[in-house]
Amino acid sequence: MLRIRTVLMLLVVAPTFGAASQQATSSAASDSEAMKTGRRLYEQRCSVCHTIPGPRRYAPILHQELMKGRESAARQYIMNGSRRMPGFKHALQPADVDAMIEYLKTVPKPSDTDGDVLGTDVE
Ligand code: HEC
Repeated sequence: MLRIRTVLMLLVVAPTFGAASQQATSSAASDSEAMKTGRRLYEQRCSVCHTIPGPRRYAPILHQELMKGRESAARQYIMNGSRRMPGFKHALQPADVDAMIEYLKTVPKPSDTDGDVLGTDVE
């Protein structure tokens, strides 16, 4: 229950943070259309949990070092979800998932203070 409420709260504040993160990541953008699509989709679908800075963030920040050599694991994760993350196999095309992974492979690893994660049980 508490978690659902937190996510709903995040959904309300997300547009503000989405705009901020767009600015922050614009330098990492590439010319490739797929990557632009990936970034847009990521910001729409994922950043509500994965990008919001600070202790209220629900999920780990995703970045290139997490993706390196783990694309297929990441793809499975995005398609099927987990106990705490919804699966997107009905909402996204495989090409969209690939585009998001391509985009994530350009996102620099955050500094320690940006990357602090509360309550994640990943790895
Ligand atoms: C409702 C919140 C939520 C949304 C929306 C969400 N995720 Fe997640 N995601 C999580 C959580 C929480 C984890 C941490 C692992 C766990 O607890 O299962 C996670 C983990 C992951 C991982 C695994 C990270 C690792 O270390 O291997 C990937 C990849 C991922 N998410 C990608 C995405 C992508 C791409 C999207 C958008 C299509 C997305 N997530 C949307 C909550 C979310």
